Amino acid sequence: MATSLYSRIASRASLYAGLLQGVAENPRYYRFVMRRGWYDKIVKQLAKHDLPVHKTFYPAKLDLRIMYACNLRCKMCGQWGENGTYFEYGTPRLQRTLELKTIERVVEQLAPHGLQYVDIEGGEPFLHPHVIDLFRMLKSYGLLVKPVTNGTLLKQYAKEVVDCGLDAIHVSVDGDRDSHNMVRQATWAYDRTMEGLSAVSTERRRAGRRTPLLVICFTMTRHNTAASLRKLCQELHGKRLIDVLSIKAGPIWIPQHKGEAYDRLIERYFGRCALTSWRGFTEDYRDFHEGAREAAQTIRDLKAGHYDFFVHAVPSIPLEEVPKLYGDYEWNLGRPHCPIPYAEPTIDADGNVYPCNLFTDEALSMGNIYEQPFLDIWFGKRYTTFRQMLADQGGLLPICNRCCQLTEH
Ligand SMILES: C[S@@+](CC[C@H](N)C(=O)[O-])C[C@H]1O[C@@H](n2cnc3c(N)ncnc32)[C@H](O)[C@@H]1O
Ligand code: SF4
Ligand code: SF4
Repeated sequence: MATSLYSRIASRASLYAGLLQGVAENPRYYRFVMRRGWYDKIVKQLAKHDLPVHKTFYPAKLDLRIMYACNLRCKMCGQWGENGTYFEYGTPRLQRTLELKTIERVVEQLAPHGLQYVDIEGGEPFLHPHVIDLFRMLKSYGLLVKPVTNGTLLKQYAKEVVDCGLDAIHVSVDGDRDSHNMVRQATWAYDRTMEGLSAVSTERRRAGRRTPLLVICFTMTRHNTAASLRKLCQELHGKRLIDVLSIKAGPIWIPQHKGEAYDRLIERYFGRCALTSWRGFTEDYRDFHEGAREAAQTIRDLKAGHYDFFVHAVPSIPLEEVPKLYGDYEWNLGRPHCPIPYAEPTIDADGNVYPCNLFTDEALSMGNIYEQPFLDIWFGKRYTTFRQMLADQGGLLPICNRCCQLTEH
């Protein structure tokens, strides 16, 4: 008993010591992610219906979807899952990768105006043939850089991702081995991802650093179980693989009628266009009461537990409200006006720029960085129309209520 109390205190102490070392090593990263000043300033202004004046606001954060292609077919994924919309893309488009020199031109325009953070996603970003060169280029501008990856290709890049100074890596894991492999539809996925994480954490120790911050992102959906999340924690504990387990307590999903309302809204402002992206997330979670209650209880237990990593849940709401994330789509968590169209553009593998970083339909592209300077797009007429449309709806669109962009970084 005394030994276990002692070992718990020792493991807690080493957890906090690791965190302190990480903060001391990279304070700017923690300040940006935790204080969120860039975001709150715009949110407050928008809440007062005081729309930022043209040419006074610039992106603080950039989201790059550098590839469409992916080596997995995860069941819940809006891109490549059961309702995934990337299946409709032809081969030439699926082979596109965002070119470095074109991204660099965007960075050159934005860095002097306060760009700080670049989030890199796909598809699977580590399939990009020049992914490490991309990280190096972004770091050379002093930017904070974080890829989100399924981790299956991490092992081969373990040394480079530490040496090039990445600030954080988010690795998606959907439960213990059986559950993860079932959700990710590949019997080899879990082991490869864990090998990747192990290789990076070993390299990090070799370099005597706590950067990049290693985060596992777990998304609770109808395809996995809260029990598999508990097992994942047990499997991870004691291996010194990660710093944080981030639990997405509610998935992104959209009831059909909300998607159709969005179609009608877009038609009013942009004319008739074929939108498919929301369809990738069409789901109805109203039957998920039991799963939602178990998820809430599991998160409560895990947060009170003693692991050699931090357990964190998003969105940050009281846990008794987690079931509402599934049962009541109308509930918007009291979210304010979405600031993303004022602060965080998304650029996809084709070079198209989007004001919403969850739903990216070519028909709603604001312009293309292969054809126009980024800032002409950012302050262009289509972006202005989109921002006005959002304000006219009170700051959220019919498909916004389960978007995770407002709650995570
Ligand atoms: C679309 S993936 C792209 C990056 C990379 N391929 C990966 O899996 O991490 C980005 C993140 O979205 C998560 N995700 C996929 N479908 C989701 C859904 N329906 N709701 C919430 N998150 C989802 C994935 O688990 C992953 O953490
Ligand atoms: S690995 Fe990522 S992009 Fe690929 S199918 Fe899974 S969630 Fe989607
Ligand atoms: S879905 Fe809505 S809340 Fe999310 S980024 Fe787009 S506009 Fe903002």
